Amino acid sequence: MMGWLRSKSITRSTAAKRDPDSKAQVSTEVISESETDGMKQNQSKVSEQDDLRGSLGETEAAESSMLIDKNASETSASSSGDSLFAPRQFDETKPLLTVTGVERSFSVGGRQLDVLKGIDMALFPMQLVMLKGRSGSGKTTLLNMIGGLDQPNKGEIIFMGHPFHQSGDDQRTLVRRKEIGFIFQSFALMPLLSAWENVELALRMANVPRSEWKKRTAHCLDLVGLGKRMHHRPFELSGGEQQRVAIAKAIAHRPSLLLADEPTAELDSQMGAQVMAVFRDIIQTEQVTICMTTHDPTIMEVADHVFEMVDGKFINT
Ligand SMILES: Nc1ncnc2c1ncn2[C@@H]1O[C@H](COP(=O)(O)OP(=O)(O)OP(=O)(O)O)[C@@H](O)[C@H]1O
Ligand SMILES: [Mg+2]
Repeated sequence: MMGWLRSKSITRSTAAKRDPDSKAQVSTEVISESETDGMKQNQSKVSEQDDLRGSLGETEAAESSMLIDKNASETSASSSGDSLFAPRQFDETKPLLTVTGVERSFSVGGRQLDVLKGIDMALFPMQLVMLKGRSGSGKTTLLNMIGGLDQPNKGEIIFMGHPFHQSGDDQRTLVRRKEIGFIFQSFALMPLLSAWENVELALRMANVPRSEWKKRTAHCLDLVGLGKRMHHRPFELSGGEQQRVAIAKAIAHRPSLLLADEPTAELDSQMGAQVMAVFRDIIQTEQVTICMTTHDPTIMEVADHVFEMVDGKFINT
């Protein structure tokens, strides 16, 4: 039996189409390629760049590209304007994502390691769901599947109608770029870029028309309480502030699902609580669903539901 809680949910209106011909598209290709360089070790089906276990590519090339392009003129791309701000409508009876009978094994030294042994779960719109479990229990492995970064050996994963378990890398990447945001334990910000530029970079990579960047970037930094720190670079920010920039970056393209792998692990309890307050806030304002992993019992108190993983299975569904 699948066990989950439903919170307020309501069918998402069709996201407005983004302009594929904008300059942002060209820059995105440059950045994506440079980020991928040198990150191809340790492959399963997914590049390490994408794997939540890996770190985001923070190459100088990507940063240079962003800095060089900073002064380019605004594109005349027609802005969909409200696409990043319009209220969503959800069907409260429909989960955003379902995971059914998911199994994942790895081959290590000629032996098969069964990591996920039959996972069933669902995420409903605007929920805050947490995964807990001992180190090595399979949390990151599951998060990678939910985010379309990896695929199960068995079972089904359906995200907003997309069958992740049987779609190709390219298809999953397209869905991911539009509908999913990622947050990492180590913030994964571009060190040479300011908070503002880091958020803009996310918009560029999601092919959002340039004409929408300013309003959206200001909105996202305000949401995480960093309107006054927008010109600071990561080393000029506290850990909590850096993680809040990372949240602004992850929600910039207005994803439906935010995945966070131990987002508070490097923060003290006060900064961790701030991050959780921001999560609670953006669930309401952005109408996003959040699924995160944590080891911290105090943080679990703010979850709508906690799944406990033991030896590749949930024990409390
Ligand atoms: N690509 C891989 N190849 C081989 N083994 C893997 C791979 N990815 C994960 N594993 C193994 O799967 C198990 C679960 O790993 P996972 O990273 O999902 O654990 P976790 O619950 O996130 O742990 P932690 O709390 O330490 O982050 C581990 O034993 C790990 O070594
Ligand atoms: Mg992990």
